[in-house]
Amino acid sequence: MRKLQEYPTCGVLILAAGQGKRMRSSLPKVLHEIAGKPILYHVFKRVAEAIPGASIGLVVGHGKEQVEKYVRQETDFKDLKVEFIVQSEQKGTGHAARCAVDSEWGKQWVENKLPILVLPGDFPLLSADLIKEISQPLKKGVGLRLLTCDLEDPSGYGRILRKGKQGPVFDIREEKDASEKEKAIQEVAVSIYLFESSFLRSSLQNLSSNNAQSEYYLTDTIAFSHKKKKKIEVLKWKNTDDLRGVNDPWELSQAGQLMNYRIIRKWASQGVKFVDPTGVRIDSTVKLEEDVVIDSGVLLLENTQVGKGTIIGPRVVLKNMEVGERVQLKVGTVAEESRIYSEAQLGPYAHLRPQSEVGSKSKIGNFVELKKTKIGKNTSVAHLSYLGDAEVGDEVNIGCGFVTCNFDGRVVDGQRKHKTVIEDRVFLGSDCQTVAPVKVGQGSYVASGSTITEDVPADSLAIARSRQVNKLGYAKKIK
Ligand code: UD1
Ligand code: CA
Repeated sequence: MRKLQEYPTCGVLILAAGQGKRMRSSLPKVLHEIAGKPILYHVFKRVAEAIPGASIGLVVGHGKEQVEKYVRQETDFKDLKVEFIVQSEQKGTGHAARCAVDSEWGKQWVENKLPILVLPGDFPLLSADLIKEISQPLKKGVGLRLLTCDLEDPSGYGRILRKGKQGPVFDIREEKDASEKEKAIQEVAVSIYLFESSFLRSSLQNLSSNNAQSEYYLTDTIAFSHKKKKKIEVLKWKNTDDLRGVNDPWELSQAGQLMNYRIIRKWASQGVKFVDPTGVRIDSTVKLEEDVVIDSGVLLLENTQVGKGTIIGPRVVLKNMEVGERVQLKVGTVAEESRIYSEAQLGPYAHLRPQSEVGSKSKIGNFVELKKTKIGKNTSVAHLSYLGDAEVGDEVNIGCGFVTCNFDGRVVDGQRKHKTVIEDRVFLGSDCQTVAPVKVGQGSYVASGSTITEDVPADSLAIARSRQVNKLGYAKKIK
């Protein structure tokens, strides 16, 4: 058992057992991605920022194996303590909260007289500020703090019922149970509350499912607290963008757009220049440095990192890339799981497949594809080439239309592909092939149009094509 002083200020209960029917998907709702990460990731992330070391009780049910598996393998949550609470039948938000309060995780908050913060699992745009503010300690005699906001279009949300226009809150009415008059109310509940934990427990024991959805509503705890004359504090949140829930694919894309916009704004405030942010997409896990310039239609995905002064785009796609400083990535370049060192130039239309490396000041030109290939410094592969499973040294010049023939159709010792080594300062003429495994020794020349099948010793000239024969006057015979 932990000592009281080791506890964070409140327990964080996240509701994520619902099916998310309106998503029309086999994937649990909270695992749908925005900005490259599941909805639930963003909720956890904001909790971690607001309440370091938070203890989270995560209610799971629908697709629980998938949700649990995801949370366990996500390395960004090491700082949080997550306990899974299973709600095997989804009988509503009130029932979900009850499962949590009755669990071992829930009991500790009641025993230690610490409040429980309730958050929905489907609000990816929550801000850390909001979480900090709602989780401030409750004054004595207060049963809960309720978060509300005014929405231009409140449809789908529970409406806040007050005595008189600005009077105290006495109930929340779900849309499906609301009269026309109640539906006109624009102040809504968003499933965010800080509950005094023993009050939460007793009010959950009093819920009934006598409503349009035959569910136990967490929102009914408000009427209970009113009845019991427990004080309800209301925190009205102005920034409604923080409170966009995801219930269907359209809301998912709207939330994604908004988060993307926030990410772009954040990087712009840190010195990244966007020529035209239209169509630029940056995942939440990307890292950029000052003076990076991003043109339109650029996608920076997953754990991509870009160094100072690098110029990207238009229409460049980088996924899990490590890009150095002052690199130029020209139009149409697509690269993943590879590394590009400082001042290299790629594109237009270069393609880096996984496990490739481009050395400093090297040039990878148009329609060049690299796969599992390491290119040294000051090397040029300027046009129309394929290099797979190759190691190319420094100051190499590879002419137009070079191909490493790395696959001979056989699998030997489990290896399908063979290696090509091209050492420092080699000059390969245009339209050559190397049939792997093969090595071209340093400083040598390979004549244009050669098909290299044997190793080339250092400092030699290799010619591997048939000699030209000129048959004088022969054209006349053909005509
Ligand atoms: C709920 C609120 C509504 C509020 C809205 C904000 C209730 C009764 N209604 O409605 O007032 O305006 O959120 O988005 O609370 N969940 C479970 N177990 C269940 C049911 C739901 O864990 O049995 C979880 C869901 O996974 C979800 C959250 O609770 O993360 C909210 O459930 P949802 O069905 O989306 O509630 P709404 O109808 O949106
Ligand atoms: Ca919802």
